[in-house]
Amino acid sequence: MNSEMAQVYETNARVSIPTYDALFGMVQSYFRAELSGEGASVLVIGAGGGNELSAWGPSNPEWTFTGVDISEEMLKIAQHKTNQLGLSNRVKLIHGTINDLPEDTAVYDAASCILVLHFIDNVQEKLDLLRTIHSHLKPGAPFVLVSAYGDRDSTELKDRLHVWGSFWLDAGRAPSKVNEMVNTGIMKISFLPEKQIEGLLQESGFTNITKFFVTGLFGGWICHAAGSNGVGIESEV
Ligand SMILES: C[S@@+](CC[C@H](N)C(=O)[O-])C[C@H]1O[C@@H](n2cnc3c(N)ncnc32)[C@H](O)[C@@H]1O
Repeated sequence: MNSEMAQVYETNARVSIPTYDALFGMVQSYFRAELSGEGASVLVIGAGGGNELSAWGPSNPEWTFTGVDISEEMLKIAQHKTNQLGLSNRVKLIHGTINDLPEDTAVYDAASCILVLHFIDNVQEKLDLLRTIHSHLKPGAPFVLVSAYGDRDSTELKDRLHVWGSFWLDAGRAPSKVNEMVNTGIMKISFLPEKQIEGLLQESGFTNITKFFVTGLFGGWICHAAGSNGVGIESEV
């Protein structure tokens, strides 16, 4: 593992999203409430860096995790964290996309896809990913999606970019560099308006779609895999 790279990721994630650690705490609370304290299998899409594993693994000894990531470098960091925390017997890491999960993989009790969707440019590929996640979940299972969002042509996104830039200025980045990050660098990721993200979740079979998180450029949604009859858990009881 390249420890310098790992450290840069840890620092930058918390500048870009000052509520980064709180986000993982909130998701843990929700999963705990939904998973009723028993053993649960959690699918982590984009597990690189290992922060879902280190945030939720030690404090939930009954949970097992399957982490998927396309980056070998990031997975090395996740593996290192997993080993250091003594989680190896409860964590399986897979190099690749969700399509590389073993064919016979059982469905999971919960899933997360945190800070991944905006790296996928093509809307159909985003939808395919969300649909495949849904296909790997038990009916009613909670799913958390966190992604950059916004309408590229809106002043609303411009204003949030300005806020995001302020986080970097305050962390000591040179104004010229922040200017470049705001106007060019971050614009390379794929922003979708929140209504479109919610539409993709719905089209993928998720229900009870609830926005629970916003910080700077990023939003988070909690939802549930629809039951086998296509309706949400609330309608099934
Ligand atoms: C910004 S990191 C987020 C990592 C972690 N979820 C977190 O919040 O700290 C994004 C990760 O998504 C991975 N990634 C990008 N596209 C992916 C895909 N289609 N399937 C799985 N992982 C992907 C990248 O390799 C990277 O490790």
